[in-house]
Parts: sequence; structure tokens; C-alpha cells
Amino acid sequence: MAAPSGFTATQIRLHWIVFILIVAQYVLHEGISQAWDAVERGQPAGFNPIVASHVLFGILVLALTLWRLTIRTRRGAPPPPEDEPAVLKLAASATHFALYALLILMPLSGLAAWFGGAEMAAEAHETMRIVLLALVALHVGGALYHHFILKTDVLTRMRRPG
Ligand code: HEM
Ligand code: HEM
Repeated sequence: MAAPSGFTATQIRLHWIVFILIVAQYVLHEGISQAWDAVERGQPAGFNPIVASHVLFGILVLALTLWRLTIRTRRGAPPPPEDEPAVLKLAASATHFALYALLILMPLSGLAAWFGGAEMAAEAHETMRIVLLALVALHVGGALYHHFILKTDVLTRMRRPG
């Protein structure tokens, strides 16, 4: 099967929806952090819409990521620009792999902490949030470097289906 020349409209929509959900997870984390502190002190968490949205958005990220991976496995991914240095190609695919891994592990660890009371999962969730942030910074830096310095079409292909 030949590699596709770009991403489908669905893949592009999913990328940006997940981006918005992740931003919301970071901006609105305070509610679940406080609820978790209460649980750890042996107090009831109670119902709080901000907490419920953290759980819901997290599950949505997991479901949409599995959907993305299914499309990617069936269709393949567009190759990196030919003249991109080998080290950058490697860095990009390693970053994408790690991002996909964290988009799965963040919700799973959150679920294990919240519904399973697993203290270690909560610690992993807390550590991974920093790793995810660092990877996203690297990823955005890479995308902007491609667009403004290398002047490739990489950023455009995550905006227009091809
Ligand atoms: C991609 C999905 C997710 C992201 C990016 C995310 C992000 C975050 C962030 C930034 C915090 C704050 C950590 C802190 O205050 O130190 C947090 C805390 C928490 N999240 Fe999530 N979360 C996700 C999914 C979930 C899901 C699905 C659940 C549960 C069903 C969950 C449960 C928790 C819990 C229990 C805490 C408090 C404990 C802790 O700080 O580790 N999260 N999350
Ligand atoms: C939460 C934030 C983000 C996450 C988790 C994320 C995740 C990903 C993943 C996993 C891929 C690989 C797609 C694939 O090959 O199947 C990808 C591709 C891409 N992302 Fe993001 N992304 C985020 C934010 C952004 C932002 C803010 C930008 C733009 C500044 C961006 C630009 C791109 C571009 C241009 C591609 C295509 C790369 C290529 O064609 O090789 N991403 N993203």
C-alpha cells in the first residue's frame, strides 16, 4: 500500500479536537486535584461538574486516540519531507510515538487512580503530565521550525486534507 500524501479531514479534526481537550485538562485541573486531595484525606469527593468534565474529557481523549490509531494503522501516515535531515525525521517519529503513548497512558492512569484508588497510578499521572507538556512543547517547536525555518508543508498538512 502506497503511503498517503496527507491526512484525511477526519484525522485533522481529531488532532485539533484532542488538542482542545488536552488544553482544557490542564487549565481546569484544579477541581480534580482538590477532589483527589479530599479522597486521600478520607473525605468524600462529592459531585462537582469540573471534576466530572476532567473524567469525561479524559475518556474522550482515550477514545479519540484509539480512533486515530485505527485510521493511521489502516491508511498509513504521510512520509516526512524528503530533504528533512535524518535526525529530525527520527526525532519527529519518536515524538509522535511518545505523544500517542501518553494520550493513552494519561487517561488509563487517571482512571486507575480515580475509580481504582491506586495511589501509584495517581503519582504516574502527575509525573506524566509534565512529560506530556514537554513533548507538546517539543512538537509545537518542531512544527513551527518546519513552517518558518525549513519552509516545508508540514504545518499545512495538519490544516488541509491531502
Ligand atoms: C489525556 C487525559 C488527561 C490529562 C491530560 C490529564 C491531566 C491532568 C492534570 C494536568 C492534573 C493535575 C495534576 C496535579 O495537580 O498535580 C490531573 C490530575 C488528576 N487527574 Fe487527570 N488527566 C487526564 C485524564 C484523566 C482521567 C480519564 C481521569 C479519571 C477518570 C483523571 C483523573 C485525575 C486525578 C484523580 C487527578 C488528581 C491526582 C493527581 O494529581 O494525579 N485524569 N490530570
Ligand atoms: C495537545 C497537543 C498536541 C498533541 C497531543 C499532538 C499530537 C500529535 C500527534 C500524535 C501527531 C502525529 C500524527 C500522525 O502521524 O498520526 C501530530 C501531528 C502533527 N501535529 Fe500535533 N499535537 C498537538 C498540538 C499541536 C499543535 C499546537 C500544532 C501546531 C502548532 C501541531 C502540529 C502538528 C502537525 C503539523 C502535525 C503533522 C506532522 C506530520 O505531518 O508529520 N500539533 N500531532
